Amino acid sequence: MHKSIQWIAFAAVSVPLFLAAQTRNVVLPQDKGPATINVSSYPAAQQQAYKLFVNKCSQCHTIARPINTSMTRTEWMMYVKRMMHKPNSGISNSQGKDIFEFLAYDQQVRKDKNPAKFYKALSDDQIQKLEAQQ
Ligand code: HEC
Repeated sequence: MHKSIQWIAFAAVSVPLFLAAQTRNVVLPQDKGPATINVSSYPAAQQQAYKLFVNKCSQCHTIARPINTSMTRTEWMMYVKRMMHKPNSGISNSQGKDIFEFLAYDQQVRKDKNPAKFYKALSDDQIQKLEAQQ
């Protein structure tokens, strides 16, 4: 499927995820990792999208969280939609698409090559347990 069409089509099935969206202040293991990506070798479009990603995805939690989380392309799509639809995310559909393309590219060239260095996304249950401990 063409990437843009895939992005639009996904909006229809991702609605139930929005219901899980509440702001939480829990610290996840990913938050403690590096907080920057060296994008100097990335294509110009991805370098541009990196700035948008840093700006938009650091509003509610550390930017280290997505930087150190490893997901499949489909999981990133779901996740960016989920984050976009949290109250006051300030992320438009086209900005979300650019951020998703950046994360999918970065996953391929940086994370997939070195999987042991990154964290898998936690389940809602795991996040709730961490929250109860903090
Ligand atoms: C409006 C607040 C908000 C914004 C903006 C936001 N997030 Fe989140 N994010 C959260 C919350 C709250 C959680 C904890 C899990 C949950 O409630 O969904 C979270 C969790 C995460 C996780 C952890 C996943 C896991 O299960 O381990 C990742 C990765 C993530 N966000 C990526 C992003 C990306 C990428 C962006 C930018 C597109 C973003 N976030 C923008 C609020 C936000």
